[in-house]
Amino acid sequence: MGHGLVGVPCFCLAFCLLLVFLQGLEILDPGEVVYVQTVTKGVVGRSVMLECGTTLPDVYIWGFTMPGDERIRAVVYNFGKGPKLQKLATALGDISIITDSSSLLIDNLPLFAQGLYTCQALYDTKEGAKVYYYYVQLLVLVPVSKPYILASDSSPAEGTPMWMRCNLENGTGPINYVWERESRDGSTARVAEGNASLVNVTFVNRNHTGWYRCLASNEVNEQRSDRIWLDIIYGPDVPQIDVTPYSVTERGYSALERETVSLMCQASSNPPSQYVWFYNNSQVYTGPQFTITKILRMHTGHYSCLAQNTYLNTRSRTTITLTVYYPPDGNPTCTVLPANNYTDLALWCSWVGGNPSATLFWNPTLVGADAQGRSRTNATLIQPGSQTRDGSMFTCIGSHVALNSTSSCNVTALLPPGDPQCYAFATRNNEYLMLSCSWEGGTPRALLSWVSGSGAPQGSSEENANILVLRSSATYSGKAFVCQANHPLSPTSKQCVLKLEAPVLMTHRSVVSVYEGDDVQLNCVLKANYPATEITWYNNLKQTVWDTPKYLLHNEAAWSNLTVRAADGARDSGQYWCSATNAVGGAEIPITLYVKMYPAPPNVTISKLLYSSRERTEVELEWVTLSEGDITSFIVERQRAREPEVKASWDGPWQTVAADLGPSARSHTQLGLDPTAQYAFRITAVNHRTLGYPSELRTPGEMGWRRAGPQPPTGTIPAQHLSRAVSTHRQTHACVLTTGS
Ligand SMILES: *[C@@H]1O[C@H](CO)[C@@H](O)[C@H](O)[C@H]1NC(C)=O
Ligand SMILES: *[C@@H]1O[C@H](CO)[C@@H](O)[C@H](O)[C@H]1NC(C)=O
Ligand SMILES: *[C@@H]1O[C@H](CO)[C@@H](O)[C@H](O)[C@H]1NC(C)=O
Ligand SMILES: *[C@@H]1O[C@H](CO)[C@@H](O)[C@H](O)[C@H]1NC(C)=O
Ligand SMILES: *[C@@H]1O[C@H](CO)[C@@H](O)[C@H](O)[C@H]1NC(C)=O
Ligand SMILES: *[C@@H]1O[C@H](CO)[C@@H](O)[C@H](O)[C@H]1NC(C)=O
Ligand SMILES: *[C@@H]1O[C@H](CO)[C@@H](O)[C@H](O)[C@H]1NC(C)=O
Ligand SMILES: *[C@@H]1O[C@H](CO)[C@@H](O)[C@H](O)[C@H]1NC(C)=O
Ligand SMILES: *[C@@H]1O[C@H](CO)[C@@H](O)[C@H](O)[C@H]1NC(C)=O
Ligand SMILES: *[C@@H]1O[C@H](CO)[C@@H](O)[C@H](O)[C@H]1NC(C)=O
Ligand SMILES: *[C@@H]1O[C@H](CO)[C@@H](O)[C@H](O)[C@H]1NC(C)=O
Repeated sequence: MGHGLVGVPCFCLAFCLLLVFLQGLEILDPGEVVYVQTVTKGVVGRSVMLECGTTLPDVYIWGFTMPGDERIRAVVYNFGKGPKLQKLATALGDISIITDSSSLLIDNLPLFAQGLYTCQALYDTKEGAKVYYYYVQLLVLVPVSKPYILASDSSPAEGTPMWMRCNLENGTGPINYVWERESRDGSTARVAEGNASLVNVTFVNRNHTGWYRCLASNEVNEQRSDRIWLDIIYGPDVPQIDVTPYSVTERGYSALERETVSLMCQASSNPPSQYVWFYNNSQVYTGPQFTITKILRMHTGHYSCLAQNTYLNTRSRTTITLTVYYPPDGNPTCTVLPANNYTDLALWCSWVGGNPSATLFWNPTLVGADAQGRSRTNATLIQPGSQTRDGSMFTCIGSHVALNSTSSCNVTALLPPGDPQCYAFATRNNEYLMLSCSWEGGTPRALLSWVSGSGAPQGSSEENANILVLRSSATYSGKAFVCQANHPLSPTSKQCVLKLEAPVLMTHRSVVSVYEGDDVQLNCVLKANYPATEITWYNNLKQTVWDTPKYLLHNEAAWSNLTVRAADGARDSGQYWCSATNAVGGAEIPITLYVKMYPAPPNVTISKLLYSSRERTEVELEWVTLSEGDITSFIVERQRAREPEVKASWDGPWQTVAADLGPSARSHTQLGLDPTAQYAFRITAVNHRTLGYPSELRTPGEMGWRRAGPQPPTGTIPAQHLSRAVSTHRQTHACVLTTGS
C-alpha cells in the first residue's frame, strides 16, 4: 500500500490533465507547485472525507489511482462552474463534494475505494495563480468480523497435544488475538495474547479445562467469539481412602469392634470415577462410600478401592489395611507363683486374646517393680516374700482399647495353715514304704522335699504334698526322714520328722496254763512300731487265727488279746505266736499254752439196781464211791441188750440217761423202760471235765410190787459239756460218752 509520492510520469500526467482544463490561464511559475501528502483511513461502509486544502480553490480536480495501476483517472472537477462528478465516481461509493470546499466525502465506503487520491488545486491570487497538489492516500479498513474457535479436539485426554485457532472471515490486519478462559467460578482470565490465531499445547492437562473465547481486534474494532468448553479427560488419579472414624497405627488403620466404619474413596477423574470396593480381593461394594455397620474382628483385612474412568478405560487402585480391635474374653487371670527358690512371690497376670493385647498392671505398685509396672498380655512382678504379710491381696488391672471399663483379678498370698504333716505307710504286702508329707492350702503352694537323717535329698521336691516311695528294707529301721517345707511367706523352712521302727512285741505272760474247758486269754503288746502295723496271731498249728467259735480276737492299736475258748487239753495246748511286721522289719514272740486236766474222780460202784415195779418200766439205782476225791457230777448210762434175749450181749452203744446229777447224789430212778427189753446200767463219776472210770456193768434185779406208772423222759448229756478224759484213762467207753447224744 504505497502512499508515497507518485512518480514523475504520473505527476506529468496529472499536470497535463490540469492544463487541459485550464487553457489560457497564466501560470506564474510552474516550479512553484506545492505538494501536500496525507494519509486518510476510512472504514468500509462508513463515510470518509478526503481534504483538498482548507479553502476552496478556484479550480480543482480529483483524480484516483488504483493500487497497482499507474493511471490517474478523474473523479470530479470544478472549473468554476460547480463540481462535476465523473463516471468513475459512482464506482467509488457515494461520492459527494462538501459544499463550499473541495473536500471529497465518500459515504458507504467500498473496499475498492482504497487507493491514491490526488487533488490538484489552483488558487488565483494577486501574486498570480498558485498550484497545490494534494496526495491523499486512502486506506479502507475492514472491521474484524466475529471470530469463531476451531479446536483440534474439544475433549482431549490429559497429556495429549491439542491446538485451538481463532478464526475470522474479515478484518484488516494487523489483528491481535486475546484468549480468555472463564473458570468455574466465573472469573475470566487472559491466558494468551498475540498476533497469532493459533494456540498450540503440547501436553494438555486438567487445568486447561474451562470455557474459552477468543477476542480478535484490529484498528477498527474488536470482536469476541462464542465460548467453547474445553473438557480435558483425565484420571482416575490414585484413589485416596478416608476412614471414619480415623485411627492409624503402624500397621494401617484400626477400628473398634462393633463400631460403624465408613470408607470413603476419592480419585480425581473426568468423567468422574466409578468406584468398586474389594475386601481381600473379592468385590464387596460399588460406590464411593463403603460403610460397615457393626464391624467385626473377622472384617480385618485389606480393603481396596478401584477407581475407573469408563471413558478412557483407565483404572487405578489403592489398598489399605484395616485391623479390627477387639478385647480379650472374660477377665484377666491372676496367679501367684513361687520365685527365687521359694523366697519370693511371682505375681503373674495374664489376659490372652484380644487385638491388640490388653494392657495389664499390678496394684499396689510393688516394691522392686519396674518403673512402669506395665506389660502386655501378661504381667509378672516379683514381690519379696519377706515383705509380704500373710493374706496380702494383689489386684491385676487390665484395660483394653476396645473396652470402656477395666477388668481385674485378685490374688491373695496365703501361708498354708499349721505345720507340715508327715506320716508313713506301706503298700499291702509291705513291698513299698511310702513317706507322705503335706502342707496344703498355701498360695502359692509350699514346696516339700524329703531328706534322709544324714541330710541327703530323697526323691524329688513337690508342691503341697510329697510322697516318697521306698522299697521296704530293714535297713531303714531306726532311721529318721525329714520333710522340709518352704513357702515364700515363711521366713524359715519348716519341717517334720519321721522315725521308722520295726515292730517290737511283748507279752505279759509267755507261758499260760488253763484248766481244760475254761477260756484262756493270750496277750501281746506292740511296743515300738512305725509305720504302724497290726498284730497277727498264729495258733499252735502255725495257722493264722481268725475270729471263730474257738478263738476270739480283741485287737487294739498297741495290743491284742487272743481268747482260746473252752480249752481242750488235746487240741489247744502248745505254742502260739504273736507276730507283727511292717515295712522295716518284723517280730514274733511265742506264748506257750498248757491245758491242765482236773484230777480223776474216785471209782464208783453200783450198790443197788432194782426194778421198782412189776411192769419193769422203772429201776431204782444207788451207788457209792470207792474212795475220796473231787466229784462235780455223775453220769448214768444204760445199754439195751441185743437179741437173743436169753443170752444177752453187752457190746452195743451206751446211752446216757442222766448227766446232771449233783456231786452229792447217790441214787437215781430211771423211768420209761421197755418191759420187754433187757438193760444194763453203769455210773461214772466226773470231776469238771475229767471222767472217772465207769463202774462195772449191772443189770437190774426183780422187786415185783408195782406194775404201772408214767413213762419218764430219757436223760442225755449234751456233748459240748463234756471233754475227753485224760489220755491215761482213755478207753473205748469214753468215746461212747461223747457220741451218746
Ligand atoms: C466479509 O466481507 C464480505 C464482503 O464485504 C461480506 O460479504 C461478508 O458478509 C463479511 N463477513 C462477515 C462475517 O462479516
Ligand atoms: C507477530 O508478532 C511478532 C512479534 O511479536 C512478529 O515478529 C511477527 O512478525 C508478527 N507477525 C505478523 C504476521 O505480524
Ligand atoms: C503444535 O506444536 C507442535 C510442536 O511444536 C507441532 O509439531 C505441531 O505441528 C503444532 N501444531 C500446529 C497445529 O501447529
Ligand atoms: C493444576 O493446578 C494446580 C493448582 O494451581 C497445580 O497445583 C497443579 O500442579 C496443576 N496441575 C497440572 C497437571 O499442571
Ligand atoms: C483377609 O486377609 C487378612 C490378611 O491377610 C486375613 O487376616 C483375614 O483372615 C482375611 N479374611 C478373610 C475372610 O479371608
Ligand atoms: C533353695 O533353698 C534351699 C533351702 O531352702 C537350699 O537348700 C537350696 O540349695 C536352694 N536352691 C537354690 C538353687 O538356691
Ligand atoms: C508374657 O509376655 C511376654 C511378652 O510380653 C511373652 O514373651 C511371654 O511368652 C508371655 N508369657 C506367657 C506365659 O504368655
Ligand atoms: C462405651 O461408652 C460409650 C459412651 O461412653 C458407649 O456409647 C458405648 O456403647 C460403650 N461401649 C461399651 C462396649 O460399653
Ligand atoms: C478384688 O477385691 C476387691 C476388694 O476386695 C473387690 O472389690 C473386687 O471385686 C475383687 N475383684 C475380683 C475380680 O474379684
Ligand atoms: C487283755 O489282756 C490284758 C493282760 O492280760 C488285760 O489286762 C486286759 O484287760 C485284756 N483286755 C481285754 C479286753 O480282755
Ligand atoms: C479203779 O478201777 C480200776 C479199773 O476198774 C482199777 O484199775 C483201779 O485200780 C481202781 N482204783 C482204785 C483206787 O481202786
